[in-house]
Amino acid sequence: MKTDVVIIGAGPSGLMLAHLLHAAGVNPIVLERHTQEHVLSRIRAGVLESTTTDVLVELGIDERMNRESLQHDGVVFADGERLIRIDMAALTGRHVTVYGQTEVTKDLIDAAEDRNIHVVWESEDVALHNVDGVDPHITYTKNGKEERVDAKLIAGCDGFHGPSRQVISAETGRPFELIYPFGWLGVLADVPPCTEELIYANHERGFALASMRSMSRSRYYIQVPLDQTIDDWPDEKFWDEICTRLGPNAASHVTRGPSLEKSIAPLRSFVFEPMNHGRLFLAGDAAHIVPPTGAKGLNLAASDIVYLSDAMIAYFKSGDEAALKGYSAKALARIWKSERFSWYLTKLMHRFPENADFDRRMQLAELDYLAESEAMQTMLAENYVGLPI
Ligand code: APR
Ligand code: PHB
Repeated sequence: MKTDVVIIGAGPSGLMLAHLLHAAGVNPIVLERHTQEHVLSRIRAGVLESTTTDVLVELGIDERMNRESLQHDGVVFADGERLIRIDMAALTGRHVTVYGQTEVTKDLIDAAEDRNIHVVWESEDVALHNVDGVDPHITYTKNGKEERVDAKLIAGCDGFHGPSRQVISAETGRPFELIYPFGWLGVLADVPPCTEELIYANHERGFALASMRSMSRSRYYIQVPLDQTIDDWPDEKFWDEICTRLGPNAASHVTRGPSLEKSIAPLRSFVFEPMNHGRLFLAGDAAHIVPPTGAKGLNLAASDIVYLSDAMIAYFKSGDEAALKGYSAKALARIWKSERFSWYLTKLMHRFPENADFDRRMQLAELDYLAESEAMQTMLAENYVGLPI
């Protein structure tokens, strides 16, 4: 089989890219190792920058998002006693959209079916060949039969654990990584949120986040040591802890209920440079990971895909390779600024075991400054709503 572009991975990156290419008359084939159900079973973050919502609007896949999402003009930071609201709309003229990544992915999958975009679910043993040679191609197994797809370009949208980044040798590319000494325990529950806008809390017992999926479904997180499991956190213990860490004001509005989903995820900052090799181009989690504190994961994937789809379309429409050659540097410029913001917020809002007492004083001083300084609030607001693309 021959095609213009093979896209490895049907997560948000791969699906957004497939749609943008298809809309421009470029032929993609998406190879996804799992089933649709498995992909949609993943619970991920839920704060969208306009970078991401603009892609859905451009593709005409925004109807359910417009109907079901929440628009947030502000975000709140707490230090156990006080609540510091950042008025993003007043400071930047922009807002964020609260709409689960799972919902974004579902809308992209449903639209791909409606538009006959070729997605091969349960494609196993995906392997990349000759990505810097004359016949770049992919092999994979489907229903026990080995298949081959020859492509002019290959998009590695296969996430942090996928095969694409692995084909770039240590002589050609390198990782930059920081692993944090704690994880996030996340709970999803069909209870009304305790707050109208997200609350990020730095309590002496650790970080907490009050988020939501709708006005009837809440999403909470607490920082936990890496040696703990969900068995250490029965629901009642979790509800007690989130109320303690959010502080008395927010806690008085917390509605308890049975957890629908409970999981612990480690935190890391990771960037791989460069994001291309031969005819292979990496995008999204295949090239970078951010700690979820800044809600940047999906939004960085979206900006990668805007840059990459523009470059690929220019190549197929006019043979111009300049944007393809410039893709990695352009994407990395925005990635590193979002990595900085995610790292900054993680350092500001979490308890770090070493230097705990001094670190906490530094954090409280920073939160004091945030409460008092419009310049500091503007920095935070500009980054949270999303830097220019
Ligand atoms: N063959 C085919 N598909 C694969 C393979 C493989 N060998 N390895 C991984 N995949 C698929 C995964 O099953 C997944 O569906 O690639 C997809 C990668 O999707 P994500 O991990 O969601 O990454 P991305 O699409 O870049 O989206 C980034 O997702 O993980 C969150 O926080 C992250 O919000 C960010 C967003
Ligand atoms: C979420 O709602 O899952 C969420 C929101 C903001 C974050 C991280 C996760 O920073």
